[in-house]
Amino acid sequence: MVHGAAPLSAVAHRSESLTGTIRIPGDKSISHRALMFGGLASGETRITGLLEGEDVLATGRAMQAMGARIVKEGDVWVVNGAGNGCLLEPEAPLDFGNAGTGVRLTMGLVGPYHFEATFTGDASLSKRPMGRVLDPLRRMGVQVQAAEGDRLPVTLFGPRIASPIHYRVPMPSAQVKSAVLLAGLNAPGTTTVIEPVMTRDHTERMLAGFGAQLSVETDSAGLRTIALQGQGLLQGRAIDVPGDPSSTAFPLVAALLVPGSEITIQNVLMNPTRTGLITTLLEMGADIDIVNPRVSGGEDVADLTVRASRLKAVNVPPERAPSMIDEYPALAVAAAFAEGETVMTGLEELRVKESDRLLAVANGLKANGVDCDEGNASLRVRGVAAGRGLGAGHRGAVVATHLDHRIAMAFIVMGLASQHPVAIDDAAMIATSFPEFLDLMTGLGGRIVCGQRAA
Ligand code: S3P
Repeated sequence: MVHGAAPLSAVAHRSESLTGTIRIPGDKSISHRALMFGGLASGETRITGLLEGEDVLATGRAMQAMGARIVKEGDVWVVNGAGNGCLLEPEAPLDFGNAGTGVRLTMGLVGPYHFEATFTGDASLSKRPMGRVLDPLRRMGVQVQAAEGDRLPVTLFGPRIASPIHYRVPMPSAQVKSAVLLAGLNAPGTTTVIEPVMTRDHTERMLAGFGAQLSVETDSAGLRTIALQGQGLLQGRAIDVPGDPSSTAFPLVAALLVPGSEITIQNVLMNPTRTGLITTLLEMGADIDIVNPRVSGGEDVADLTVRASRLKAVNVPPERAPSMIDEYPALAVAAAFAEGETVMTGLEELRVKESDRLLAVANGLKANGVDCDEGNASLRVRGVAAGRGLGAGHRGAVVATHLDHRIAMAFIVMGLASQHPVAIDDAAMIATSFPEFLDLMTGLGGRIVCGQRAA
């Protein structure tokens, strides 16, 4: 593979079988929270397996700017926190780059502080809606200045004493749930978050691990009520971050699609709020063995052995979306190689990710000759079945990635299995979540050439 530090483009070519064993880097959601909660808690937090992607490092820098001490000793990130309620006013704007989780959770964490903090981001993040976090903060008494449409840059100024709120999250969003709970850490009394549809629960699990007083009740309809006592003591702890299932999606789908492949992916987080893609691929006939299931750092973890498979189309129900919300680009590529029409519904949240992911995926598929329909909140993909010449109907094209790492990785995977090469206009954003991606894929046998300008 030829690639420079910041490749402008990448081209993936049809590859021989992918083989080998890889270890996926740490989960992005848990890594953000590990630095954030460690930076807030009293005493020392030691983190192993941290994802060293650009998004997570931006969160680390923000916590440092507010008083946390963060150093790397060998493979361990050692964080000495400021203490709950004791963050310092940042002297300069906090720049979160591409990171939606970083900026939204930190706005929640910092909003109730009686000081001024400004939040900025890159062109992609500056287009994304922040009102979903700013609205509950306003209700807690936080003064907000934001660009039009509640977008970045945002400046927050907290009240002397924030009001705890009772908040029903209006969309399935772990970021919003988490932002309100983090704001509640610095408000007196009980902050309650009602979550009608369960989303990833890393905030609840990890806050409890740091000693927060938090209770979770789930009623018979699945509605969750999370109650947090504010202004409690958080105590530093050891955290071992498991491998990211959202990053796993790309080598996993690649191994299913490239004929003759067999790979093992080690140390994958199997938290049930994150396993929707594996469920879906198994329904499609994927040959995935879940081996060595174990509990590590309070989370379910396993290794996956994946073999090339003939996939068939399925209907992916809308209620599964929260457990695979970041995996639809990878699934859409798998669907392009499956027999029949795959129907995905309940995708409205894809419109407000790092790009309008529904549009970007549909455009990328169409550019490569895949027959698909984009609905308001749905995607239908009619695949070219593996048995009839893998990807034979797909023509090569340059895919526009719109500063979105997952669009970039999904279409690289497509190129590895298509008759014609698939190019992406910009591979640089992959470093936000999965800096090792290109090297790991070429190490498995993927043919990827980087650094060329797209034709
Ligand atoms: C995340 C929640 C999800 C997900 C994002 C990470 C988190 O976003 O898409 O990549 O760590 O809480 P939403 O909460 O906006 O759905």
